[in-house]
Formats: sequence, C-alpha cells, structure tokens
Amino acid sequence: MTTLPQTTFEQMDIDGIAAIEGRVVIFVAPDGSMDAGAKRVDRLTKKAVSRLAGSKKFEDAEPGSSHMIGFPVGMAAEAVQVVKLSRKPTASDARKAGAAVSRAGTDTAVSVIAPTMARIGDVALGMVLRAYDFSAYRTGGNDGEPDPALTVYVNDTDAAKAEYAPLEAQAQGVIFTRDLTNEPANVLTTTEFAERLVGLRELGVEVEVLEEPELEKLGMRTLLGVGQGSESPSKVVVMQWNGGGDEAPFALVGKGVVFDTGGISIKPGPGMEEMTMDMGGAGVVSGVMKSIATRKAKANVVALVGLVENMPDGKAQRPGDVVKTMKGDTVEIINTDAEGRLVLADVLWYTQERFKPSAMVDLATLTGAVIIALGHENAGTFSNDDSFVGDFLKAAKEEDEGAWRLPLSPDYDRLLKNRIADMSNIGGRPAGSITAAQFLQRFVKEGTPWIHLDIAGVAYVAKGTTLSNKGATGWGVRALDRLIRDRFEV
Ligand code: BES
Ligand code: ZN
Ligand code: MN
Repeated sequence: MTTLPQTTFEQMDIDGIAAIEGRVVIFVAPDGSMDAGAKRVDRLTKKAVSRLAGSKKFEDAEPGSSHMIGFPVGMAAEAVQVVKLSRKPTASDARKAGAAVSRAGTDTAVSVIAPTMARIGDVALGMVLRAYDFSAYRTGGNDGEPDPALTVYVNDTDAAKAEYAPLEAQAQGVIFTRDLTNEPANVLTTTEFAERLVGLRELGVEVEVLEEPELEKLGMRTLLGVGQGSESPSKVVVMQWNGGGDEAPFALVGKGVVFDTGGISIKPGPGMEEMTMDMGGAGVVSGVMKSIATRKAKANVVALVGLVENMPDGKAQRPGDVVKTMKGDTVEIINTDAEGRLVLADVLWYTQERFKPSAMVDLATLTGAVIIALGHENAGTFSNDDSFVGDFLKAAKEEDEGAWRLPLSPDYDRLLKNRIADMSNIGGRPAGSITAAQFLQRFVKEGTPWIHLDIAGVAYVAKGTTLSNKGATGWGVRALDRLIRDRFEV
C-alpha cells in the first residue's frame, strides 16, 4: 500500500537557507512581492529571483505555476523553484502550487520556504496528492528506499500542523481509494478487498462482511446473479462510523465490481484491462470512511459496498434470465454487461431497510455513456432532491471535483419497460446514463434524499490532472468528506 509522503513542518530559520541542499521552493506573488524567505534567496542569488519576477515569462504564468533556477550561485541547493502565488491565495490555487512542486519531481529532498504563507495546509495537500505514484509493481525503482523528505519551513509550526491535520486525513482517504482502484484484479479479489476494509477497524470503523449464504437469505438475487460466473465469492461489506449524534445515519453505497468482462455479453478486447477499476465507486466510499475516521468526524455515517466479479462461465448469468431483486421486483437481464445497476439495486434496498438513512449517495463506474456525455471533466450527477444535490454540487465545486447534474423523469423511466418482467436491465442506446439512473431510482424509497454519481469518466484517467497522476484519481473523496463536514456533522 502506498504511504503518504512524510511532510514535516519546521521552524523557519532565514540564516539557514543558504546551506539547504536539494530543491528549495519559494513563493513570489504576482506583483513580484516576496516574503522574508524569498527575499533572502533573492539576495543570496544576486537578484536572480527579482529578474525572474520581472520577466514576461513570470507575468504570463498562471497562479500556482513555477519556474526553476538551476544550481544557483550563493546557495548549496541544486535548484530554486519559484512558485507564483498570491500572498492570500484561494485554496484551489494553493493546492495547484503544491502540485507544481511535486510535478517537478520528488527524487530530491524538497524544502519549502514559507515563513508567512497563507493556506500552507492546502499547499501541502496539493504536494502529497500530486506526488502519489502507484509503483507497487515496478521492479528496480527505489524499492525499499524511503521517499526524500518534504520539509515546510514556517514561522508558526503549530498553526500549520493544525491546518494540515484534517487535510492530511483527507489525503489518506484519497490515496486509499487510488490504491484500491489501481490494484489489478488478480490481487484485489472480492476477498482481498473485504480484508482491506476490515483493516479500517484499526481506526475505529465497525466493519461487517456479509458472505454469500447471508446474501442468499436476504434475497439479494440480482447481486448474486452478477457474481455467479466468478471463482471469487460475492460479498457485501458494511462499514459504520459513529463519531457522534443519534440521528439517522448518512449512507454511502458503492459499486465494487472487481473486474468486468461484461459476462456472457462479453466486452470487446481493446481496453478491457481498464475494467480493473470497475470497483471505483466502492473505492471512493471506502476512502471517505478512511478520511472521516482518521480525522474523527463528529458524524454518523454508514457505507456499504457490493463486491462481485462479472465473468463469463458455464455458471454465469445469461441474457434472457429473469431474476428477483431483494425488493421483490423482477428484472429481465437483456445485457449481462449492465451489471453495476443489478449490484446496486440490492445494496441500495438493503441499506434503506436496515439503516433508514437520512440521506444516501451512491457512486459507480456505471456507464460508458456518461463519458460520451461529459468526458473526463465531470461526474454525471442525478438526484431526487434539489436542496441535497445543491449542497453536494457546492462541495464538489469547492474541491475542484467536476460534477454536472443530468435529468431524471418518468419518460426516461418508461424506457425500462419489459415484455415479461417488471423491468429490463437496460433502456437502449439513447440516454444510457439516465436510464441506468432511472433503474437505480426504482430502488430508492419515496422520501429518501438520494444522489447517484456516475463516475465512469472521472474515477480513472489516461492523462494526469492538476492534483492526480494518471490512473485512479480518487475523485469524490474530497467533495464527500466536505459534504459530511458541512451537512452531517453535529
Ligand atoms: N463498468 C461499465 C461502465 C464503464 C465503461 C466504466 C467505461 C468505465 C469505463 C458498465 O458495467 C458497463 O459495461 N456498462 C455498459 C452498459 C450497457 C450494456 C447498457 C456500457 O456502458 O456499455
Ligand atoms: Zn461494470
Ligand atoms: Mn459492465
């Protein structure tokens, strides 16, 4: 498992700057103004920083971007990285600035000179999130060797540590999600996934693993149908964190398909390897639990994930099969590749029956169609409650996690009509993400505020983003952590 780069906050010593080795990072405001640390670097380097700050290059640069001065005279450092950042940056710009530090490489020790920098916690968050690299299976790298130190020099270390603590907890959740989502399916089987979640008990999370006989008894036939062609047993994992309040819990539900071949409706070969990330929704749900337990959030939250593998086999479910959901409705399986909604239908129903949540959010890499609609910039967002989804969209915006609402309506719901059963598991080509959401809504009780997030486009990206390397992004952990803080903490 990837560990978060160790970030230490040290007392700023201006006179010590000249002797610091490795890379020294300083901040210069867009108007060229500098703090005491940057001024010292400027003096040591005979005004190299001032010349950069006065250049067209610097003027044209975006907030949070950086320039490198290599092997500066007058200093022991091998490079000075000059980051353009206002003295009072937005959280977003501060994180971008931190990300720029990591993007420049993490092979040498990095010392950030920030005696009086505002939002230094966000700078550190940007650094650790962008430094993440899933290198578990690369041999010959720097295996075993500890990552170079990341030191941040500030005047007030206590204030900086206090500011960073909840953000570090959030980062712990994000990298937990990224690791789970990047992990190949031969390693992250349903059993291994459940074991990693059991590991959250260390943080005080109550974790229960429901096995097949139990799921059978509960009547989760649509979930079990998806997994019946796999050697890996289907499971539902229930996580509970009660940090205070005896109100009904807030519920998170995640699709945890550890691998999706499509089943008998098998997918074409090219790109199928990416379906190792089809448990991304369950990964996000797990990461949020890790974040809130790490920072000991005063909230009552339950999280449930349906862990299955969708494989073709002699025992696999067929197109044309009719299965019964835990709710009692029947579904004709038209396409075995539309499996996520079958898993979620039963887990959503069980969650409401057992916990009567005050609100519920589900996350799933549910449809390719959402990538056609929104690309990799926004998650498809669906809801039955304007106020609840308004709060979520606000939290997502504040965290720079793209989310865009799409409609639900009875006209779309009608597309699920079936000749012999209560519904089909697909609605045809038009509006594929919406009909998938309509399918889920059939398992949401009247009066439960609910949001469905289709994260197929954002959970996993081929190119890096501002705060994420390529591969799993951990999209949604920060927005949901913030939503919990703003709406569900007592
Ligand atoms: N897991 C896929 C959706 C997906 C596609 C996730 C691309 C990430 C990237 C889902 O199970 C699926 O196969 N959906 C089908 C539904 C169709 C059969 C109605 C799809 O989108 O093609
Ligand atoms: Zn899938
Ligand atoms: Mn599928």
